[in-house]
Amino acid sequence: MWGGRFADGPSSIMREINASIPFDKKLWRQDIRASLAHVAMLADQKIVEAEDATKIVDGLNQIAEEYETGGVPEDLDLEDIHMHVEARLSEIIGPVAGRLHTARSRNDQVATDFRLWVREAMEMVDDALDALQKALVSRAEEHADTIMPGFTHLQSAQPVSLGHHLMAYYEMVRRDRSRFADARKRMNESPLGAAALAGTGFAIDRDKTASMLGFDNPTANSLDSVSDRDFALDYLMAATQCSLHLSRLAEEFVIWASQPFGFIKLPDSFSTGSSIMPQKRNPDAAELVRGHSGRIAGAMNALVMTMKGLPLAYSKDMQDDKPPVFEAHDLLGLSIAAMTGMIAEVEFSGNRMRALAESGFSTATDFADWLVREAKLPFREAHHVTGAVVSLAEEQGCGLADLTLEQYQAIDSRIDERVFDVLSVDASVASRSSYGGTAPDQVRVQIAKARQTLGLEN
Ligand code: ARG
Repeated sequence: MWGGRFADGPSSIMREINASIPFDKKLWRQDIRASLAHVAMLADQKIVEAEDATKIVDGLNQIAEEYETGGVPEDLDLEDIHMHVEARLSEIIGPVAGRLHTARSRNDQVATDFRLWVREAMEMVDDALDALQKALVSRAEEHADTIMPGFTHLQSAQPVSLGHHLMAYYEMVRRDRSRFADARKRMNESPLGAAALAGTGFAIDRDKTASMLGFDNPTANSLDSVSDRDFALDYLMAATQCSLHLSRLAEEFVIWASQPFGFIKLPDSFSTGSSIMPQKRNPDAAELVRGHSGRIAGAMNALVMTMKGLPLAYSKDMQDDKPPVFEAHDLLGLSIAAMTGMIAEVEFSGNRMRALAESGFSTATDFADWLVREAKLPFREAHHVTGAVVSLAEEQGCGLADLTLEQYQAIDSRIDERVFDVLSVDASVASRSSYGGTAPDQVRVQIAKARQTLGLEN
């Protein structure tokens, strides 16, 4: 009834469901590094003889070389990376290999290895985000004076500086980096020595292994040490938030690259053609960044679901912690690199942006503000008068600056010729000089600050 699947017998199914080596072999460097620290500490504490420790260290170094050059072998019977290393060690140095596992368990071992891996992943993401920020700042600087329509509801709202728009993403990425930095600080404690769940009776030195592995201190509770994966979730949550930001930028690129917008021309290196429509230049890379954010959020959700309701301490469910983290990390790395490349190489069409900024009555608010400031109308009344002016321009098929003074005065006699000073998009953008506003001079203030933060010369 179960078909061929069970003809193999339950033991082969068990082997397959139990094994994590196909994915946790990624942890081999961390596993060997943690074992080297552990055995050095065991020797210092005279728990293992110096001579045996030397054999173990040499054997571990040999395995590292083998894995580096030939890859990690996958034997499902040996379950995971920890057992692969140990089994190979006893092939190389014989029964003395068995002394390595004194005063530890695979439970604190995997918690340690995975923390080391995630910590490195956080550092890699931070470097990649630094490069993205530098690309954003450099393009923003180039385009502080380029005018584009700013949108709300994807309707032209008020003109803004393109540099200002790009710097909005600089700010998002700045917060993303602080989330990763925060998570890294919180997770930097060593679980090694928690053993299976209760600690150990051997006179180990957890401070020593912690500092050898670059941790700030050992974790304080053995049960917590082997059973929480909040550090991996912190990574996934920060990755999810970061990927949401990237996906919004990617979506803007998709829209901006479309013919009706025509704001950007994507570089050949980040677009593809169509096999049947020769005119097409598709923003595939941007679309995939947008898509990948869904998979990264899915990975985060997967680990949330795995951890929910698990009793203390270790349960095998937790072996499933790794695939989502590995997947999200690969996707995030690619997404950041793709957006960095696109930002650096994209061609902005300043003329097209300006034309659209001028066409959408985007200075209507400036006109209303002028009525309040100069003609002393209450804002509500100014809003009403502005509505009438916009209808007239719409009827005439022209912009606000193209109406005549007579036409303005026919709508409200308190309007005079000074109104034309505020109807241009340049005047509008330049006037928004409040802190954090879009006036090019303000934008340059923020760019200078960003350059300083990024360690660039001003
Ligand atoms: N492969 C396991 C994991 O990734 C290692 C820990 C196994 N511990 C155990 N008691 N079965 O979680």
